[in-house]
Amino acid sequence: MPGRTPDQNSKRWTEATSTAKLAAVSDVLVENYIPGKLSKLGLGYPELSELFPGLIYCSISGYGQTGNYASRAGYDVIISGTGGLMHITGPADGEPCKVGVAITDMSTGLYAVSSILASLLARHRTGKGQHIDCNLLSTNVASLANIASNYINAGQEAQRYGTAHPSIVPYQAFQTSDGYFLVGAGNDSQFAVFAKLIGYPELSDKEKFLTNKDRVQHRGELLSFLSSVFKEKPLSHWLASFEKSGIPHGPINNMEQVFSDPQVLHNGLLQTIPHPTLGEVKVVGPAVRYSGTPTVSPEAPPLLGQHTDQVLSQLLGYSPAQVAHLRDSKVI
Ligand SMILES: *[C@@H]1O[C@H](CO)[C@@H](O)[C@H](O)[C@H]1NC(C)=O
Repeated sequence: MPGRTPDQNSKRWTEATSTAKLAAVSDVLVENYIPGKLSKLGLGYPELSELFPGLIYCSISGYGQTGNYASRAGYDVIISGTGGLMHITGPADGEPCKVGVAITDMSTGLYAVSSILASLLARHRTGKGQHIDCNLLSTNVASLANIASNYINAGQEAQRYGTAHPSIVPYQAFQTSDGYFLVGAGNDSQFAVFAKLIGYPELSDKEKFLTNKDRVQHRGELLSFLSSVFKEKPLSHWLASFEKSGIPHGPINNMEQVFSDPQVLHNGLLQTIPHPTLGEVKVVGPAVRYSGTPTVSPEAPPLLGQHTDQVLSQLLGYSPAQVAHLRDSKVI
């Protein structure tokens, strides 16, 4: 994230390595080495912050910059075990599962972005940068939300519930005759509407299913009945029945269904962009739309080293001969 102009005649500029020079013209440095590794190269936060006190230095690691685990390599799936996410993911009577994408990796990136933005705001006030310690373990544990709260406040150990909710019944996927239907009755009046929509209005008058607390208590009995009801008809029937009911519901889509879904397309989530070697590539569009500063047309992900010459010559002022020398000696 380049932003500042260095005094290229200063002593510290001439003494600095290429990476330090890049830090000198940048607002933000992001790195994901094992903690301590960059300090050995003179590029750790202590070293660079002394040269460039305004630098925001974001370190992303598996377990944190300090502590007994700091030097361990961080892999999404391992940390989703250590951080408890895998314990609560998967069918109740089955094995722990990992989430289908590297969600802890990606959430850590989101925390990194928001902490960098917060640090930029802080720098406006103080003029000082800072060291950000983002890590997969802290992200994973911080994301345990209600499951963490139930344990740390009430001592309630967590379990797996498949697609279901630990404390709301019904709130899960049901198999239909040709796909899965997700539906939740968030409160007792919704459950009454739900019972009517599936053709069994009397369900919500039964004492054992009267309140959510009752339904959680008799979860097994209610769910086995509902499972048999939903299996009788196709997904399209259930989607049509619940449309406009106010009851939260929907399908479980495969990728083909996701990328032909009208709302997905309406939100601009499928984009075709030019690519330097492939002609065109399709990418998933941005998850956020801005009213005042709309996202400019996205560029394809860069090829390996695509911007190396540009960074060295335009940003750091290296001569063509210096760049050629770096290339010949396989530094770049
Ligand atoms: C139940 O949930 C619906 C939808 O969120 C809401 O409109 C309604 O007011 C709720 N009813 C009660 C009794 O909380």
